[in-house]
Amino acid sequence: MRLFVVVVCVAVATALDPEWEDFKRRYGKRYESLSEENARHSIFEENNRMVKQHNEEAATGKHTFFMRINKFSDLTNEERQQLLMGAGLLQYNTNPPEDKIFKPSPDLKVNDTVDWREKGAVTEVKNQKQCGSCWAFSATGSLEGQHFLKTGELVSLSEQNLVDCSRSAGNKGCDGGLMDQAFVYIKDNGGIDTEECYPYKAENHKCHYNANCSGATVRSYHHIFPPHDEKALLRAAGSVGPISVSIDATWGSFFHYSHGVYDEPKCSSTHLDHGVLVVGYGSTNGSDYWLVKNSWGKEWGMEGYIMMSRNKHNQCGIATAAVYPVV
Ligand SMILES: *[C@@H]1O[C@H](CO)[C@@H](O)[C@H](O)[C@H]1NC(C)=O
Ligand SMILES: *[C@@H]1O[C@H](CO)[C@@H](O)[C@H](O)[C@H]1NC(C)=O
Ligand SMILES: *[C@@H]1O[C@H](CO)[C@@H](O)[C@H](O)[C@H]1NC(C)=O
Repeated sequence: MRLFVVVVCVAVATALDPEWEDFKRRYGKRYESLSEENARHSIFEENNRMVKQHNEEAATGKHTFFMRINKFSDLTNEERQQLLMGAGLLQYNTNPPEDKIFKPSPDLKVNDTVDWREKGAVTEVKNQKQCGSCWAFSATGSLEGQHFLKTGELVSLSEQNLVDCSRSAGNKGCDGGLMDQAFVYIKDNGGIDTEECYPYKAENHKCHYNANCSGATVRSYHHIFPPHDEKALLRAAGSVGPISVSIDATWGSFFHYSHGVYDEPKCSSTHLDHGVLVVGYGSTNGSDYWLVKNSWGKEWGMEGYIMMSRNKHNQCGIATAAVYPVV
């Protein structure tokens, strides 16, 4: 009888973390075993503590951004890394050939604030899901922008086409890739299919490019040069259109970003593991920011976007490996 009482108490105690129960309900989380649930629960608790403490400090003005619990809050480090570049890091070209470098005219002036969404050059926020295909989303993003600025038509382009078909250019599907290699593939292939025609599956599949479904082409691509130079990135983002960039997104603060200007002093400017899209820049509340489109769905961050620190010594490497296609 006594044993029975004890067991009941334990069961009740487990069920009595309302934040955990709410989290599971909200994100439709189901776990295969009790031991998995316990492990997930403790990851969640650790993140929940971090988010609460950060937000208390942010409310007193100690931070320029807020965090929130989201669908990533029960992920292991390994699963988080999988969402980035698989297990790999982005290798980048520090010495591109002359004809692959962005060369603005010396008297180019750009606006203090730019948002290419307002010009109609940016498609809806997409979701890469559990596949390390961020590079493909970054590449389609800058090509969608260049194609729009040239033709006046905003066409959503196929990441799955790049995941399945650009291995010959050096990409590895859901295990990572590079935006400039995606442009090399599109150029050699003579086009990239539309999203509608070649929809996203979040898995590696056999290539089934269909030339009848091509939505855009690429003639070449330009690196922003020199690397690490936020002024060079500003000239490009203020005149060319949305620019593909690689960043260090390793940190729990990035995964849990909610709003405000992201600032992570631990961020590396050379350890790059995530491809995203700069769609503008500006300043708010005394903080300069890059406006960045991510590929983690609209529920993440500011409707899928993040404001990242600008003019803070190339924080998170945003200007280290920036590139855009020439159409
Ligand atoms: C810069 O500002 C001018 C004047 O408001 C505007 O016409 C132009 O479209 C802006 N450029 C960009 C890239 O936003
Ligand atoms: C592409 O279009 C042409 C002409 O309409 C057609 O003959 C061909 O079968 C199409 N190819 C594919 C792969 O759908
Ligand atoms: C700017 O600061 C105000 C007051 O501190 C705050 O309410 C607002 O959210 C901040 N804006 C951004 C974009 O962070």
